[in-house]
Amino acid sequence: MRILGIESSCDETGVALVDASGSATPRLLGHALHSQIEMHQAYGGVVPELASRDHIRRVLPLTDAVLAQAGLPLSAVDAVAYTRGPGLAGALLVGSGVACALGFALGRPVVGVHHLEGHLLSPFLSADPPEFPFVALLVSGGHSQLMRVDGVGRYELLGETIDDAAGEAFDKSAKLLGLPYPGGPALARLALQGDPLAYKFPRPLLHSGDLDFSFAGLKTAVLTQVKRLAHARLDGPATLHLADPLSAQQKADVAASVQAAIVEVLVKKSMMAIRQTGLRRLVVAGGVGANALLREQLGSACAKAGVRVHYPELHLCTDNGAMIALAGGMRAQAGLALAGGAGSDGYRFDVRPRWPLSELGLPVTAA
Ligand code: KG4
Ligand code: ZN
Repeated sequence: MRILGIESSCDETGVALVDASGSATPRLLGHALHSQIEMHQAYGGVVPELASRDHIRRVLPLTDAVLAQAGLPLSAVDAVAYTRGPGLAGALLVGSGVACALGFALGRPVVGVHHLEGHLLSPFLSADPPEFPFVALLVSGGHSQLMRVDGVGRYELLGETIDDAAGEAFDKSAKLLGLPYPGGPALARLALQGDPLAYKFPRPLLHSGDLDFSFAGLKTAVLTQVKRLAHARLDGPATLHLADPLSAQQKADVAASVQAAIVEVLVKKSMMAIRQTGLRRLVVAGGVGANALLREQLGSACAKAGVRVHYPELHLCTDNGAMIALAGGMRAQAGLALAGGAGSDGYRFDVRPRWPLSELGLPVTAA
């Protein structure tokens, strides 16, 4: 079964074609992505209306590119999957509308996929796919969650952030340092030159005993530190950006110290989830999963504990169409219903800008 996947929940238009036939390992046949980062950079963050308009421009040319890569005609698509939520409503509507129109034109089923289900199943497209059950650490720009995953559609929330997401903590700290949006990768690069022990930032909820996270306080601590350093060096006229008076080394030290704080909390809580569930596999997914320090530290903590850790391919960590096609395909393989069909109203769709993963349905204890 060849599934075309369309992702348009935020600032990336992703389209991909995945073969998920029978019980065979899913295979990526084609994959194309357009990132809107440059367009939003001037505004320091995503502008929803601009995002929606750009998705409209990109989605069909990307679809053509994916089919050309796969060497297949549009008629070879057996089902269409799209991101139904969570995300920006207008942006989601673009992918959903196009997916349902394609499904209708081809007479093929369509399936609305949960964006986070896409992220957490994405390692199944890697050379080292996990086996169920596993603990998933899902860390993106909008979410930080620990989950117990017993199978497709069988997800139990173990803990989540009570305020900012881990990616948001990276992005906001980076902004305070004057780095361009999205700050995560830029902050990680700058941190390579810095001393992670230079400043002691808080590790919120580290000893709370539960699996929840809190990152909002970190942003305030970074702001306070940057102000303190800026003030100490500020003897000339007012500067354009708060962090301008800081030396390159001070900025790198702040970056390294804040990254160390975020990573320590993510690693400790993940290992706690492993202990509490007794599971021996950990999957890390979402944009922050691309962070090299997180991978290094989780790698050594898991090796010490005899736990296997799985990641998506690096280029599939951040948003993409492949994970949406894959999740649609794996849902079909698991016998979970695909929406749509040949009926008169089979292609009606809605989007879910806010959509808790727990609503996906199957109880963890079902099988
Ligand atoms: O999963 P994703 O592409 O989009 C959402 O669903 O939110 O994640 C984007 C987030 C951003 O906050 C970005 O700064 C962060 O992932 N990110 C990183 C790295 N690469 C992306 N954070 C830290 N280190 C990285 N290397
Ligand atoms: Zn995402």
